[in-house]
Amino acid sequence: MSEKRLQALEIAMKLFGISGSPRIAATDWIIKEALRYAEENWNAETRYVSVRGKKLNFCLHCDHCIKKGSCIHDDVMKEVYSGFEWADAVLIGTPVYQGTLSGQAKVVLDRMRAFVASNPHGLRGKVGAVVADGGDQIGGQEPAIRAITDFYLINEMVPVGGGSFGANLGATFWSKDKGAEGVKADKEGLKSLYKTLDRLAEVWVMMNHKIGGEREGGRNEL
Ligand SMILES: Cc1cc2nc3c(=O)[nH]c(=O)nc-3n(C[C@H](O)[C@H](O)[C@H](O)COP(=O)(O)O)c2cc1C
Repeated sequence: MSEKRLQALEIAMKLFGISGSPRIAATDWIIKEALRYAEENWNAETRYVSVRGKKLNFCLHCDHCIKKGSCIHDDVMKEVYSGFEWADAVLIGTPVYQGTLSGQAKVVLDRMRAFVASNPHGLRGKVGAVVADGGDQIGGQEPAIRAITDFYLINEMVPVGGGSFGANLGATFWSKDKGAEGVKADKEGLKSLYKTLDRLAEVWVMMNHKIGGEREGGRNEL
C-alpha cells in the first residue's frame, strides 16, 4: 500500500450500504462484504440497511414533503434518510429485475425526494457507487447501475464507477440465481467490487484533500 493511501486511512470515511433486495441472499452478502472491505482497507465507518422484510411504501406524489418538509409514510425510509444524512459515501446494491434495478431499489430512490425536499442540497458532494447482481452474466447489470447513477447525478452527488479493465460503471456480479453462494464464487464480480470501493474511497479522499498537498493537473493516485 502506498504512503498516501496509508495517510488516507487515518481519516474515517462514513460509508452507508443499502441492499435493494427483498431477500437475505446475494445482494445482502455483497453489501456486507463491501462494508467489511472498506472497514479493513480504508478505515471506513459503516452503516447498513436492507429493505428485506421492512415496510417500504411507494411515493404517492402527495407533495407533503414539498409543503411540510417530511414524508407522510413511516417505514424503513427513516433508516435510509438517517443513513444518507450521516454518510460521506453511499453504496447501493440491487438485484437485476427485468433488465434493470429492483422495484424495491427504485422505491428507495423515489422516496429520497422527501429527503431533498427538506434539504435541497443535502446530498451535494456525497460520493456514490453501485453494485448490481443478476442471475445471468449479462442480465441487465449495467442498465441497473445507470439508473442508480442517474439518481446520484440528479441529486448533486458524485457518482463513481470502478474504472476500466475490471469494473467500468461499477461492480457487477453473476449470481447464477444461487444467492450468496453464487456471488461468493464470482471472482470477477469480487474484483469489480473491490476496484469500485477503492475508487469510491480515492475520490472521497481527493475531494476532501485529506492526503495533504493539492491536486496537480488531474487525478492523484493513492
Ligand atoms: C422478478 C425478478 C426478475 C429478475 N430479472 C432478472 C433479469 O432481468 N436479469 C437477470 O440477470 N436476473 C434476473 N433475476 C434474477 C436475480 O437478479 C438474481 O437471482 C439476483 O442475484 C438475486 O439477488 P438476491 O439474491 O439479492 O435477491 C430476476 C429475479 C426476479 C425475482
